[in-house]
Amino acid sequence: MDSFAINLLNWNERVALHAASEDYGLERFRSDPTHLSGVVRFDRERLGSIEGQRVAHLQCHIGTDTVSLARLGAAHVTGLDFSPMAVEVARQFALDLEAPIDIVEADVYSAPEALGRGGFDLVYTGIGALCWLPDIDRWAKVVSDLLVPGGRLFIREGHPVLWSLDYEVSDRLVIGHPYFETPDPIIDDEETTYVDSVARLQNTVTHSWNHGLGEVITSLMEHGLTLTGLIEHMSVPWAALPEQMTPACGGEWVLTDRPARLPLTYTLQAVKH
Ligand SMILES: C[S@@+](CC[C@H](N)C(=O)[O-])C[C@H]1O[C@@H](n2cnc3c(N)ncnc32)[C@H](O)[C@@H]1O
Repeated sequence: MDSFAINLLNWNERVALHAASEDYGLERFRSDPTHLSGVVRFDRERLGSIEGQRVAHLQCHIGTDTVSLARLGAAHVTGLDFSPMAVEVARQFALDLEAPIDIVEADVYSAPEALGRGGFDLVYTGIGALCWLPDIDRWAKVVSDLLVPGGRLFIREGHPVLWSLDYEVSDRLVIGHPYFETPDPIIDDEETTYVDSVARLQNTVTHSWNHGLGEVITSLMEHGLTLTGLIEHMSVPWAALPEQMTPACGGEWVLTDRPARLPLTYTLQAVKH
C-alpha cells in the first residue's frame, strides 16, 4: 500500500472518535451559535476581518475550523479533505448549522482541479495538516493556484522543531526525526489518536513528513507569494509531548520545564502578488 492509502485508512478511522469527543466539541457549536474552535480563536486578531471573503479551507477534517471561519463572516467557505468519513461528518455539521459551506472530497494536490483556480481571497489551513504531505513545493503551488492576486494564505501549524522531537521520550527533549523534508516518510505506529478516548485504532500506521520553516517559506516565495507575517509560539493545541506539558489558557499546552526553550507552533501569513 502507498503512503496515501495508509494515511487514508488511519484518518477515516479517527473521524468517529473525533466527532464524538469533547476536544472537538461539536455539541458546543450546536448549542452556542457564537462558539469558535480553539484554533481559530487563538489567531483571531492576526486573522483580522474575513467579512465577505471566499475562503478555501484545506484539510478541513470534520469541519470545526471551517464552521468557525464561516461564523467570522466569510461569504463562503469551501472545505477540502481526502477522507470520505471526514467529508460526511463535516457536510452534515455544516448543514445542521446552516453555514455557507461546501465540503469537497479530494487530495490536497488536486485542489485546483477540484475547487477551481484563482477563486479564493483566503486559503486557510493548519495544525497537523502539512505533515501529511510529502512535497511542500507542490503544496505551495496549490495555494498559489487557488488564490486570486492579492489573496492571502493563513496557516497555523506544528513547528518543524516540534515534529523533529521523539514524543515517546518522556523525560527529555530528544531529536528523533529529520527537521528537513526527506523523500522517505517518518513511519509511526500508534493505537490511539490525540483526543481523549479509550478506543484503540485498527489502522495504526501513518506516514508523515517534516518541512523546515525555510523550506515552507522558500516554496511559497517561489510560487509568487510574499511573506507578511511569521510568529513562532511556545504553545500547541494538544499535549504533543505527553508527560512534559502543562495546560495553558484557550486549550493550549506549553512545556512544563523552561517553555522558552523551543517553538512548538507557528502562524504564517503570505499574500499572492
Ligand atoms: C489533523 S487534521 C487537520 C485539520 C484541523 N487541524 C483539525 O483538527 O480539524 C488533518 C486532516 O488532513 C487530512 N488529510 C491528510 N492527508 C490529506 C491529503 N493528502 N489530502 C487531503 N486531506 C488530507 C485528514 O483526513 C485530516 O482530516
